[in-house]
Amino acid sequence: MAVWPAVFALNGDESMTGTSLSTSRILLVIGGGIAAYKALELIRRLRERGARTRVVMTSAAKQFITPLSAAALSGDKVYDDLFSLTDEAEMGHIELSREADLVVVAPATADLLARMANGLADDLATTALLATDKKTLVAPAMNLRMWLHPATQRNVAALRQDGVLFVGPDDGEMACGEYGPGRMAEPLAVVAAIEAALAKSTSLALPAGVGRVSGERASGPLAGRHVLVTSGPTHEPIDPVRFIGNRSSGLQGHAIAQAAADAGARVTLVSGPVCIPDPKGVEAVHVEDARAMLAAVQAASPADIFIGAAAVGDWRVAHFGAQKIKKGAAGPPTLALVENPDILATISRKSPARPTLVVGFAAETEHVIDNARDKLRRKRCDLIVANSVAEGTGTFGGSANAVHLVTAAAVESWPEMSKQEVAERLIERLVAILKDKT
Ligand code: C5P
Repeated sequence: MAVWPAVFALNGDESMTGTSLSTSRILLVIGGGIAAYKALELIRRLRERGARTRVVMTSAAKQFITPLSAAALSGDKVYDDLFSLTDEAEMGHIELSREADLVVVAPATADLLARMANGLADDLATTALLATDKKTLVAPAMNLRMWLHPATQRNVAALRQDGVLFVGPDDGEMACGEYGPGRMAEPLAVVAAIEAALAKSTSLALPAGVGRVSGERASGPLAGRHVLVTSGPTHEPIDPVRFIGNRSSGLQGHAIAQAAADAGARVTLVSGPVCIPDPKGVEAVHVEDARAMLAAVQAASPADIFIGAAAVGDWRVAHFGAQKIKKGAAGPPTLALVENPDILATISRKSPARPTLVVGFAAETEHVIDNARDKLRRKRCDLIVANSVAEGTGTFGGSANAVHLVTAAAVESWPEMSKQEVAERLIERLVAILKDKT
């Protein structure tokens, strides 16, 4: 059995280290596309968090980045040749793919997706992908027309059907100058999706009685259901030390995740940076920014119920500074902002994978109900939980909340109660609505 590369923490920031990620072994298959350079950053980010990465490169990938760079960053040799006797002697392709906890393909080109969807195995990358008994997460990257082509979409649907997980692609300007979906997800978003995928597989390995193993073993009105909850704020980085954040504590979202788990659901909680513990019996995925939160939500999908309780940052800076911005004679910097993806609206979109129930939150400082109705329409969700966060209400960080449940048909106003009670009553209502819908 070949030894996995040792890991040396590059920044030692424990707060950014997910526990399952820090002990994981990732087999990273790098496909041949202009986005291959992002795979190098991905290796670095994974290593910072303690994960060990073993790299397989396709021959096309070597046209874009060198095996030497990948080897230097991963601290291991790079595997690239199916028929290399040395490689086979050290570690066969079967062992290569099975020793990992998760297989990640980034960037996944249209060609690689097509070969995966059809079970082809004509090089080391595709052979390892076919031989693996582990989950596979792919980060597609290609020209938007190639992504939107019915053949690629057919392949993506087939791979999803096979249980392959996806992160991205993002909308944006392509290397070829066109604008649309096809850009590979950013390395931090891929890290969040990896963490979400690992959380899922780790939970299968938990001994009985620790956490919730599966919906079947649980009892309660949501037994057998998957509930996906976002909670807390997001931190949108400006440079390595500064960020744009908000005052969300995560108390309400975490209480909802707990109430759903208590009702028997398998719960995935995607949380921004908070100072409260993970609720018991939920699969928690920790993220920093909005794009990572979306990636983690997509990786944890599908779900029966999605509850977007997070206060997601609406904007991020257009240009992240890799170095700390220095104070200087030029005066304060001007921060150009760009809009973040709307997670709730994305999950609400009509698709076969849409959760049966999509619930959003509306924190308003005025015209609470009118604004919530407008949000319900715009984001096409089934229910909005609206509350006032005006000065003096104490909602942010406080233990109590007074909410209004707004649907297309009615508005129901609840008296002020604890966030835990709001969570329990909300889950009761969702159970009833779900029953009517299914
Ligand atoms: O538009 P606004 O931020 O007021 O909407 C609040 C609701 O939308 C919440 O449920 C929040 O979790 C969700 N949201 C989101 N992604 C964003 C912004 C808000 O999911 N980028």
